Amino acid sequence: MTLPPALAANGKQDTTYAIAMVCLGNICRSPIAEVVLSAKLADAGLRVISVDSAGTGGWHVGEPIDPRAASMLDAHGYDPRRHRARQFSPSWFDAHDLVLAMDRTNLSELERISRDADDLHKISMFRSFDPAATGSLDVPDPWYGGRADFEHVLTIVERTTGALVDEFRTLI
Ligand code: 4NP
Repeated sequence: MTLPPALAANGKQDTTYAIAMVCLGNICRSPIAEVVLSAKLADAGLRVISVDSAGTGGWHVGEPIDPRAASMLDAHGYDPRRHRARQFSPSWFDAHDLVLAMDRTNLSELERISRDADDLHKISMFRSFDPAATGSLDVPDPWYGGRADFEHVLTIVERTTGALVDEFRTLI
């Protein structure tokens, strides 16, 4: 899929385009996606695009990223230390141009709390940008899993954020 029209309208060098990654707890999938996309955008010199993340649930607000995610990101050369979990609220729609859900449950919750068509148009599945996605567009929840499950999330996230950066390069 291509980016929502907000980017075309907002895609100027002097304007920040803001992306929010959203999962359930904001301690595993969405912070992994935030850290990886931030690193790729910095490498690409796309400083007009900002990324942050939130959870639809509030249980982990204020906590750092899950230690399993932190050690995995560290091992792959990313810096996960700044993250503190936050909960998504409707005001996030005002502050962001694109809101990417990690799975269908997060998508449904975002749609449920959207206030109008403008909010709705900002929401997409993160993996709608995954060039290798077949079938489900969910990023599998690694919370009850082990290291291999976190590595699987990182593989999906690196591929999908790579495709996202390529899209931004063509638009900015
Ligand atoms: P995340 O993973 O949504 O990728 O951050 C989870 C984190 C916490 C819980 C579930 C999923 N939890 O049930 O507390």
